[in-house]
Amino acid sequence: MLHAKQHISDLPAVSHGGINSAGLAGSSVNPDAVLDFSTCCNPYGPPKQLRRAIRETDFSTYPDPGSTAMLHTLAQKLGISQENLILGNGSTEIIRLAAAAYLGPGDRAVMPSPTYGEYELACRIVNSDVIKFILREKDGFQLNAAEFAAFAKSRQPAGIFLCNPNNPTGQYLSFDHVSMILQEFPDSLVVLDEAYIAFTSGAWDSLKLLKSPNLLIVRSMTKDFALAGLRLGYGIASKSIIGTLKKVRPPWNVNSLAQQAGRMALSCDDYILSCCQRINRCKLYLAGEIIKLGLKVIPSQTNFFIFKTGDAAGFQNRLLQRGFLVRDCTSFGLPEYVRISPRSMPDCRRLTAAIREVC
Ligand SMILES: Cc1ncc(COP(=O)(O)O)c(C=O)c1O
Repeated sequence: MLHAKQHISDLPAVSHGGINSAGLAGSSVNPDAVLDFSTCCNPYGPPKQLRRAIRETDFSTYPDPGSTAMLHTLAQKLGISQENLILGNGSTEIIRLAAAAYLGPGDRAVMPSPTYGEYELACRIVNSDVIKFILREKDGFQLNAAEFAAFAKSRQPAGIFLCNPNNPTGQYLSFDHVSMILQEFPDSLVVLDEAYIAFTSGAWDSLKLLKSPNLLIVRSMTKDFALAGLRLGYGIASKSIIGTLKKVRPPWNVNSLAQQAGRMALSCDDYILSCCQRINRCKLYLAGEIIKLGLKVIPSQTNFFIFKTGDAAGFQNRLLQRGFLVRDCTSFGLPEYVRISPRSMPDCRRLTAAIREVC
């Protein structure tokens, strides 16, 4: 009889936000009519030029395996060498590559919890141990970097995962704290996931830390540019780390449409800036209305936030019956919290009216 490796058979499924049409089949909810507040992508969609660029892209041949044109444009924009960059089929692929290249059986990876579930999965796939540093509700889920470093020190981790700002709590670590962690763990790969950095108020420039030989910055273009269906992300690190990740990267990992759209997206700063301003206004509105209802909102520095509802699964279900999807945070270990990310102001008004009903 055929058996998968035991640690693969034991892998837990990772939950994500988004409308699950198969899951809704047979229910009275029409997936096409649901307003999705559960994923944290730009609700205004990709810049218009991208659609045109995609229509004109030839996808009958293999994509450029080195994503040369996109890499060139990205390196120029960031003011770094192409040798410090790797593109991925979404930033999730970069996380997988990092675990495949730097972690193995018996290695330890330390990460705060709750956080993005794909770090744990990537580590477990390569049979590494995952050690979680629990963020406390009474601290507003804020990471105490000194405590975290002391905790990690005794575990001698091969890898450290920091989500900044953190999904789902929206808390943002300072330059000094990340810098301290990099210095304290010279023998660990420190993955700094900045998937939501474009939406983050008061973001600092992590490229200043690029000289750290143990740092891998991970960024997503699926959130700010709304390319979730195309899949595009990238890693920034020393030449040595990038060279290593390229060894385990599958060929043609970034498809032609994503390469073309990504290159165009890099010249759309004004569009993203104006979207971020609108998103921020909607976020402040949503948080304000939810606070007025007497629910506890955890302050967030990015485009999503969590709030306490008691039974999150029940709350999610009651809203879903009314045509709104929010993220139940049970899979993050927070069964009393839901996470939402703003849509347009009229949609946000509809959601707050529905929340008032279900409260
Ligand atoms: C913190 C974080 N990192 C990375 C990702 C993956 O994004 P993508 O693979 O679409 O770039 C997500 C998606 O939800 C996320 O929340």
